[in-house]
Amino acid sequence: MAATSHLYLLMIFHCSRFLYASHDFRFISRRDLETSVTSFFHHGTVSYSEMLFDISRNEVLVSAKDAIFRLTLNELYLLEKTTWSASKENVSQCVTKGQSEDLCQNYIQILQKKGNKLLACGTHAFQPQCTWRKMENLSHVTEWVNGIAKCPYSHCRIIQV
Ligand SMILES: *[C@@H]1O[C@H](CO)[C@@H](O)[C@H](O)[C@H]1NC(C)=O
Ligand SMILES: *[C@@H]1O[C@H](CO)[C@@H](O)[C@H](O)[C@H]1NC(C)=O
Repeated sequence: MAATSHLYLLMIFHCSRFLYASHDFRFISRRDLETSVTSFFHHGTVSYSEMLFDISRNEVLVSAKDAIFRLTLNELYLLEKTTWSASKENVSQCVTKGQSEDLCQNYIQILQKKGNKLLACGTHAFQPQCTWRKMENLSHVTEWVNGIAKCPYSHCRIIQV
């Protein structure tokens, strides 16, 4: 909760700075907001789903299709990107069962912090998998765990961007 309010305050700061500078403070266009709010974009990445605020490190983790990002909390500066895809065998088995190739990818749906470790779970071509990773090095997988009953099979909760 503290994390979200922190981000919220940041956005108010950005907006109010804009409000004082504008003539009609009752109206804020989308374009004006886009120039005053910090945003993150990574070419080729789609289906962003989860966010995890790590206040102690001043970082935010964001998951997407086949990827997890580690960003600075204030500037959303990219610190690390790790790729986590389903294997070719998993994908082709999933396609054989009648799913589309696009759905048979790894939509990373769960990010949870426990001490210095991250639990990340993905749909993994309809064979949900979880991994324990180091918070300071997301590429470093310390343990694989079956994701069934922990992670959804499909990516229906995802907001398409
Ligand atoms: C799918 O991936 C999981 C985790 O990597 C693996 O245990 C399993 O054997 C794979 N299944 C196939 C059919 O390749
Ligand atoms: C992160 O972990 C990966 C995989 O274990 C390793 O290859 C890499 O060197 C590590 N990076 C850092 C900065 O420690």
